Amino acid sequence: MFRLVHAPAIFALFGTTFGALFTDPSQLKQTTYDFVVVGAGTAGNVVATRLSENPSVKVLVIEAGVSDTGYRSEQIRIPFLCGQAAIDSPFDWNYTTVPQKGLNNQSIPYFRGFVLGGSSSTNYLAWTRGSSDDYDRFARVTGDSSYAWKNILTYFKKSEHHDAPTDGRNDSAEYLPSVHGFKGPVAFSVTGNLSAIDDRVLATTQELSDEFPFNQDTNSGNLLGIGWQQNSLGNGSRASSSSAYLTPAMNTRSNLDVLIQTRVTRLIQTGSSKGVPEFKSLEVAQTPTSRRFTFKANKEIVLSAGAIGSPQILMLSGIGNAADLAKVGIKSTVSLPEVGKNLQDHPLVSTQWVVPDDAPTRDTFTLGEDPAAENAALAQWNANHTGIMSAVLGNHMGFFRLPESSPILAKYGDQSAGPGSAHYELAWINGYMTVSQPFPTSGKYFSNINVVNSPTSRGTVVLNSSDPFAAPLIDPNFYDTDFDLQVMIEAIKASVRFVNAKVWDGYILQPYADLAAALAPNATDADIVTYIRKWTGSIKHPMSTAAANGAKGKGVVGADLTVKNLSGVRIVDGSVFPFIPSAHPQAGIYGIAEVASDKIKAAYHL
Ligand SMILES: Cc1cc2nc3c(=O)[nH]c(=O)nc-3n(C[C@H](O)[C@H](O)[C@H](O)COP(=O)(O)OP(=O)(O)OC[C@H]3O[C@@H](n4cnc5c(N)ncnc54)[C@H](O)[C@@H]3O)c2cc1C
Ligand SMILES: *[C@@H]1O[C@H](CO)[C@@H](O)[C@H](O)[C@H]1NC(C)=O
Ligand SMILES: *[C@@H]1O[C@H](CO)[C@@H](O)[C@H](O)[C@H]1NC(C)=O
Ligand SMILES: *[C@@H]1O[C@H](CO)[C@@H](O)[C@H](O)[C@H]1NC(C)=O
Ligand SMILES: *[C@@H]1O[C@H](CO)[C@@H](O)[C@H](O)[C@H]1NC(C)=O
Ligand SMILES: *[C@@H]1O[C@H](CO)[C@@H](O)[C@H](O)[C@H]1NC(C)=O
Ligand SMILES: *[C@@H]1O[C@H](CO)[C@@H](O)[C@H](O)[C@H]1NC(C)=O
Ligand SMILES: *[C@@H]1O[C@H](CO)[C@@H](O)[C@H](O)[C@H]1NC(C)=O
Ligand SMILES: *[C@@H]1O[C@H](CO)[C@@H](O)[C@H](O)[C@H]1NC(C)=O
Ligand SMILES: *[C@@H]1O[C@H](CO)[C@@H](O)[C@H](O)[C@H]1NC(C)=O
Repeated sequence: MFRLVHAPAIFALFGTTFGALFTDPSQLKQTTYDFVVVGAGTAGNVVATRLSENPSVKVLVIEAGVSDTGYRSEQIRIPFLCGQAAIDSPFDWNYTTVPQKGLNNQSIPYFRGFVLGGSSSTNYLAWTRGSSDDYDRFARVTGDSSYAWKNILTYFKKSEHHDAPTDGRNDSAEYLPSVHGFKGPVAFSVTGNLSAIDDRVLATTQELSDEFPFNQDTNSGNLLGIGWQQNSLGNGSRASSSSAYLTPAMNTRSNLDVLIQTRVTRLIQTGSSKGVPEFKSLEVAQTPTSRRFTFKANKEIVLSAGAIGSPQILMLSGIGNAADLAKVGIKSTVSLPEVGKNLQDHPLVSTQWVVPDDAPTRDTFTLGEDPAAENAALAQWNANHTGIMSAVLGNHMGFFRLPESSPILAKYGDQSAGPGSAHYELAWINGYMTVSQPFPTSGKYFSNINVVNSPTSRGTVVLNSSDPFAAPLIDPNFYDTDFDLQVMIEAIKASVRFVNAKVWDGYILQPYADLAAALAPNATDADIVTYIRKWTGSIKHPMSTAAANGAKGKGVVGADLTVKNLSGVRIVDGSVFPFIPSAHPQAGIYGIAEVASDKIKAAYHL
């Protein structure tokens, strides 16, 4: 997302004294716990923290990745450097997709967190829940009203607390307190560093209010319109599921053990229960050839390894689509044909415009144009966590629908969750931003991100090998449906209408690089498609590969998120969403994990 800049050596390592952090399975004094949580990621840390609130419940968390302190951890902590946390990084899995036929057969990078906090430690901090329709559909598909907006709202509030922006601005008109939490673990805040384009973005919501209305809080369930971007950050630093949930719990509780740098290689059958196989044990290893260890859960195993990791572990255990497993020589133990199917993600393409050379853009800090300013900003953050380094790149985002009269809806129908859900998203950045294009080395820019939010394409995660240390084959299958491609074309056209508002006169000078050909006066949709296929990347929201479904014989988990056709295992992470929400998913994943934690407590009377 940014040019990679290593922060200077002014940063001391962020060291913490840990209670029960283990780096080798041989260090653990016990092998049996009440619950074993697989993956110390976004959702896993919520579940582990909530279950271990009861001191008599023994919880083990097993994480493949590394600690979030130490080498390069300033790229996790400093919000403005968020785009660096995943690139060529010790904190990422380094996946690449299979060739994407919708992207001229390009294989694209597919980032996932490999660190305490999982992807919440490496993501771009955007804090959005989605629309009320998104959650009402989740409730409908599972037949469980606990996921409906009016009920899950309590859990969204439980996960978060509002934090004032670092510049001390009064933000009371920039969010709606009534839909937010004030005591939960994850801090959220609007920007602490206003940017020079903010006034123009807001003025456009007035000038073109029919198409681009202002929305005081897009997290109220009423998603549509343009609002101030909320971010998972407090006191100028990133809030992750590690910093907000796990680390404080680990440092104060003796019933919570955390084992890192250790991969779960498979689940092990421990017998059968109520006529189905029971899996309450699992195998771990630190390298492909190192000694295997096993751990057991008296109550259950909670898989929170994410939308790639959770289906991968099931398949390595013989749980999945028998025909797929046979191809890599794994014997099927439990038939669950939908494991690894139904992968949904949001395609993203950036568009950039050239702006006047004297415009105060953030390129100063991202294109290496002014190392002295960059160092001063880092020193300021180091001193008191204020300034541009305490903010992320963008300050506003907006969510939109195709018009009712759109020929695209007439042709393909509407598969979004409902009339309050977004078909596409736009966001405006005061500087050059991309997920795929080369970076310029000079100049001043304005960027748009364009995202398809209710995609109908479906992809897959399948094993490439029976080796648990080999990457699976990941296929987001972008633009498999013409609907998704048409929505992206409409998003780009809308972004052009946005910058054609009068308030941008004299500021937006011309489209940058090959965007010019796509938007030339004689250009057609085919030229826009050329741009889209060349430059689309993932916004990094893979979900739904172990989808919840209330109907017998469908999905991978039931309404209570326990895995079907077996006993002893529940899945709590982004893979259980039946449909991807029409916004950035992390706040929704925290909410689902809070709901699931209560379901687990209730199931065991804890
Ligand atoms: C670079 C990037 C930018 C993003 N930007 C945003 C954003 O701005 N806003 C937003 O809402 N969302 C964003 N996302 C997406 C969001 O962060 C994720 O969807 C969400 O964090 C996923 O949560 P999860 O619990 O499903 O999985 P994760 O948080 O990924 O957790 C899974 C954990 O399981 C571990 N694991 C996997 N396999 C194993 C195994 N075999 N054994 C042990 N451990 C294992 C992983 O290492 C990881 O720690 C972004 C993601 C990335 C990567
Ligand atoms: C990804 O690559 C980085 C080096 O760029 C490395 O440090 C890290 O360990 C790799 N991740 C995995 C899961 O191997
Ligand atoms: C992509 O690969 C497929 C299969 O190999 C091939 O048929 C197709 O022509 C390729 N498309 C492009 C644009 O290269
Ligand atoms: C912020 O502004 C609102 C509305 O003007 C006002 O009611 C509130 O008291 C202000 N908050 C602070 C902390 O000044
Ligand atoms: C933070 O530090 C900067 C630079 O050292 C200083 O200008 C600013 O006033 C400080 N802000 C606060 C709130 O202390
Ligand atoms: C916020 O960060 C500053 C360092 O910049 C620190 O002194 C202060 O204690 C922090 N406040 C909270 C509430 O964590
Ligand atoms: C944003 O941060 C930069 C660098 O830290 C600072 O110079 C600038 O004044 C800040 N902008 C505002 C509006 O506070
Ligand atoms: C899949 O396995 C084949 C054969 O071992 C290997 O060549 C290929 O690189 C693997 N693909 C991925 C995405 O790892
Ligand atoms: C549009 O015009 C430009 C220059 O005038 C030309 O290079 C280009 O080929 C034309 N494109 C189309 C699609 O006709
Ligand atoms: C459970 O297993 C049966 C076969 O034993 C299979 O037909 C069914 O599809 C499986 N259930 C689900 C949810 O896939």
